[in-house]
Amino acid sequence: MKKTVHLIAGILAVSTIATFFLSTVLVELLGSADSVAAVKRLIVIPGLFILVPAIAATGGSGFALSKTRRGRLIDAKKKRMRFIAANGVLVLIPCAIVLNAWASAGSFDTRFYLVQALELVAGATNLVLMGLNMRDGLNLSGRFRATPTTPR
Ligand code: HEM
Repeated sequence: MKKTVHLIAGILAVSTIATFFLSTVLVELLGSADSVAAVKRLIVIPGLFILVPAIAATGGSGFALSKTRRGRLIDAKKKRMRFIAANGVLVLIPCAIVLNAWASAGSFDTRFYLVQALELVAGATNLVLMGLNMRDGLNLSGRFRATPTTPR
């Protein structure tokens, strides 16, 4: 049960961040000011209301699954998870909220693009870290063994 929750929540969290990232880049490059504002709004509602519970469920179930286990891969996943959560709470959520407010007010100035750049860098960082957690998770569960002889 915990394993199923972890797998589904992990895939949902990664897909949500990837969707935010891709839709932001595409709409900034190709869309009108109105469509940028629409994407920024959708990222906050319902986006954050999907992402935050998905990350919490992934982290919670991950820590529960690792209670009886030790090893290098578990330690690395825990360390990355702390960074993913801090990056989300301290950078990604505040960025999404202010960008939505500025875009809905039509305020696309330098400040908007600086915060947008910060959000993209933080989003890409979380995507890489979550991807590494997926890789190590698939190794731990035995679905994907890259180096079967290495102790983990
Ligand atoms: C965003 C963060 C994370 C993602 C995307 C993620 C993803 C995954 C995935 C895809 C699996 C394979 C599940 C399966 O094959 O059924 C997995 C397994 C696992 N994950 Fe995570 N995980 C994350 C965070 C964590 C954290 C923080 C921990 C705590 C140390 C953790 C511990 C585990 C364990 C112990 C397994 C192996 C479960 C088993 O088969 O016994 N994960 N993870």
